[in-house]
Amino acid sequence: MLYLFSGGGGMGGAGTLVFPRMKSLKHLFDLNKEWAEQIRARDASFFEDLSDRQTPKYLWIGCSDSRVPAETLVGLEPGELFVHRNVANLVVHTDFNCLSVMQYAVEVLKIEHIIVCGHYECGGVRAALGNQPMGLIDNWLRHIKDVYTKHEVGLRGLSEQEKMDRLCELNVVEQVYNVCHTNILQSAWSNGQKLAVHGWIYSLHDGLLKDLNIYVDGPNELEPIYRTATGR
Ligand code: CO
Repeated sequence: MLYLFSGGGGMGGAGTLVFPRMKSLKHLFDLNKEWAEQIRARDASFFEDLSDRQTPKYLWIGCSDSRVPAETLVGLEPGELFVHRNVANLVVHTDFNCLSVMQYAVEVLKIEHIIVCGHYECGGVRAALGNQPMGLIDNWLRHIKDVYTKHEVGLRGLSEQEKMDRLCELNVVEQVYNVCHTNILQSAWSNGQKLAVHGWIYSLHDGLLKDLNIYVDGPNELEPIYRTATGR
């Protein structure tokens, strides 16, 4: 059992959560306290102001990799970036988790930019390039194999490292199109909402982002088969 409810007479009758193993992670609570204090020292009402509204301008779709921390690497504060992360920053048409994040970001938060950010040396991309069976995740990584197959001609003749780098980049490009093909984006563009999708890649070696120069801000740049929005 991960946690127990105890009591019941607390605030609102909600009871108290007791985590038997919480002590082993005390350092994280200490760090959290320190972080919150630092922010409060800079801006006493920071958390109060943020607690009743969030108005981020960007949705970040990135890899779960711990070395690619979304807000940190662009120097943004809490409240400034809406984030979805999964293994290898994939946007899959049937992934209701990612689609729900996108719908909320676009329709409720009215974000203006969606950034798909991949990274070089992505473990998911590396695994997809191989043939080692790894269980459930093989089904997820198959989407990257599809990207590989689609671009196989262009990848031919490259060294293993070049192939890896290029597939990390191509995977971002394909996910940008996957974002654009959703009915969420198509509807937003149909309604005249200003919304651009960007493809970026991050280097673990120098901490820098690179713009892959893919930028879509309307349906006209998409294959006709995917369009339901009319171009403006
Ligand atoms: Co990754």
